[in-house]
Amino acid sequence: MTSGRVRWFSGLRAWAAVTTAVGLSALAAGLASPGGEAVAKPPASMEFCKIYPTAHACAASPVVNCTTCHTVPPAKNLFGAQVAERLAPGVARPLSDADYIAALPAALKAVEALDADGDGISNLDEILKGSAPENGDSRPTAVSCTPGQTRSAAAGRWNTCGYDPVHAWRKVVLDVCGRSPTRTETDAFRRRLPSESSWREGISGQLDTCLRSPYWLGVNGVLWNLANAKINPQDSIKAGPRAGSIPLADYEWDYNLFAWMNTGDRDVRGLLTSQDFVKRVSDDPPTFAAVPEGDFKGMRQAGQTVPREKRAGMITTRWFSTVNTMFTPIPRTTAAVAYRQYLGLDLARMEGLHPAVAEPVDYDAKGVAAPACAVCHSTLDPLTYPFTRYDGIIRNNYNPNRLKNFVRTDGARVVEAPEAGEIFGQKVANLLEWSQVAANSDAFAQKVTWDYWKMMVGREPSPADQTEFALMWKGLKAPDKFNYRVERMLHALVLTEAYGRP
Ligand code: HEC
Ligand code: HEC
Repeated sequence: MTSGRVRWFSGLRAWAAVTTAVGLSALAAGLASPGGEAVAKPPASMEFCKIYPTAHACAASPVVNCTTCHTVPPAKNLFGAQVAERLAPGVARPLSDADYIAALPAALKAVEALDADGDGISNLDEILKGSAPENGDSRPTAVSCTPGQTRSAAAGRWNTCGYDPVHAWRKVVLDVCGRSPTRTETDAFRRRLPSESSWREGISGQLDTCLRSPYWLGVNGVLWNLANAKINPQDSIKAGPRAGSIPLADYEWDYNLFAWMNTGDRDVRGLLTSQDFVKRVSDDPPTFAAVPEGDFKGMRQAGQTVPREKRAGMITTRWFSTVNTMFTPIPRTTAAVAYRQYLGLDLARMEGLHPAVAEPVDYDAKGVAAPACAVCHSTLDPLTYPFTRYDGIIRNNYNPNRLKNFVRTDGARVVEAPEAGEIFGQKVANLLEWSQVAANSDAFAQKVTWDYWKMMVGREPSPADQTEFALMWKGLKAPDKFNYRVERMLHALVLTEAYGRP
């Protein structure tokens, strides 16, 4: 690698750091109290869903947004003000986190029957149905089915009130096969309508066929597009076929692995845990296969250089480390991208905060221990440590002594940064443990389901979709339901009212 390339990337990195700092300083300023001490009360975001597990906001993520109770923290919105008024009245402030959490359930309970925004709907109703209790213009969307029409999910059937089988079937042909059904096909499907089991079979069979199509599974197909946000392809640094001007790594291997884990009888948790290296065997029909370790030869250079026993799916590929870790010793962006793209939690928006005790230490002297920064970095830094042994640009290997290379640029203490870290409040020894905790979390199942829901239904799950959305992601986790098989989940998704209602 020439020094020109190095400079080019350092420039990019410096630019990224500046934009990050500028974007976040406004937020950080909002968090600092007049005394300059930041006193954050993020635990409420996690407690909320423990208290209201069936609330709409908790279907998508176990951590609600700060704006549930605040305008800009610490300023409270109308709802937050009601909660604050009833929170441990008479007790001296500031409350410890423990006292705060202990007092929160009673304070929330005490305001359930109130109506903070005066729109005639109680706080509790709004919380459960997904409208905003602090905003008079926000009311729960009416659900179209009467209880009598609604089929009980508990009875193992999807809510098909309002479901139009022909519409759903057409949509499968369009969305998954990428073409309009012919007249003959439509007539044939219509003949199934008198029998529910027959039209269900018709939709299911159509889906199975389309799931093998190049439109779904091929290069630039639907799955490929779904992976774009996670992979972040950049042609200028692509290696391998159609290489860019500065070939560093080849993202095609990442797409192969993504498609592999999302299809067939494979466990989608492999996105974070698989140690396979996957090649495309044929484009039509699209076919993939795991490459035996001995057969890597030239492929290895472009795709995967980390030894098998140190791999963690999509988050240790050569491409992922190259574009995210680049030349950083403590690659916070890498951890934040993994958290955002695979667990649906955006730390820049203060989602998924699980502050670790006595963190951040700030081993690389970036100033992150300042209170206004620690709000996020007490979660982000321990989340990042397990990534510190994986090289970014150039070597792309696992290297237990990697941090020694950074003493000159990032200070002597950088080598003290541990490999062990923390995710969701759980201590992990390395990235392999990290990825296990991540892959088994509710957040992972919700994110996988969320991505498919958005793509198939064409919009984010709305308050009215909450029951069906929860059935999907909980089903994805359940061994006796979809058991982490995406295609099984999709068979259920196309039978939801959200999908099949014109
Ligand atoms: C369920 C409602 C709720 C949520 C969600 C919530 N807060 Fe709060 N927050 C409160 C209440 C109530 C108080 C007042 C606490 C008190 O009186 O000691 C508060 C106080 C604060 C304070 C001032 C602390 C102090 O001691 O004066 C900050 C800062 C804060 N919250 C930040 C946040 C951030 C950041 C988030 C999101 C990560 C968040 N809060 C989420 C309800 C909430
Ligand atoms: C709202 C949460 C939040 C706050 C507050 C925050 N950060 Fe960050 N910081 C992040 C996230 C998230 C990233 C990872 C970048 C990304 O989102 O991709 C990051 C990344 C960084 C990085 C690495 C940048 C890079 O490109 O490698 C540094 C250094 C950093 N933050 C310093 C600070 C400092 C110093 C402060 C206080 C002035 C601060 N941050 C406040 C969330 C925060």
